[in-house]
Amino acid sequence: MRTISQTLQWEVFPSDGLPASDRALRDAALEAARRAYAPYSAFRVGCAVRLAGGTVVTGSNQENAAFPSGICAERVALFSAGATHPDLAPTDLALVAVQNGAVVPFISPCGACRQVMMQTEERHGRPLRVLLCGRGETIAVASVRDLMPLWNAPELQPQES
Ligand code: THU
Repeated sequence: MRTISQTLQWEVFPSDGLPASDRALRDAALEAARRAYAPYSAFRVGCAVRLAGGTVVTGSNQENAAFPSGICAERVALFSAGATHPDLAPTDLALVAVQNGAVVPFISPCGACRQVMMQTEERHGRPLRVLLCGRGETIAVASVRDLMPLWNAPELQPQES
């Protein structure tokens, strides 16, 4: 038996003290949240993805009466980016959610979206920085790897003992 430990680090900004380019991406995500179709959850999520070169692609959650057919804002944005700009690496992603007319204190991507983010990062060979934009604070994650321990690090592969 052996034990593996991993240290993860995230930057935390006061949401009103974000650097200008991050603020612009957060505001694009907030704007996208207004376009959510969320009649079942009333939880409106917006996502904005900046691509290499600066183009921003947005998405919002789109729900459906057949519940599993709905899709999260992150996957709408990332799949849209992949469909329209397949050769441009996504470099930054901002996520924000609105409930009862106010930004929620904290938003965190589901496992399926983390997997899609991870594969996006791997596909383009470039870290995807993730901004989790809460009401008071925004958490900046430098790479999706820092959202997914045990993602696939070579040092974590099975070893002969
Ligand atoms: N949702 C997202 O779009 N992204 C997240 O990170 C969390 C959850 C959506 C899915 C569903 O439409 C609603 O929020 C409630 O879970």
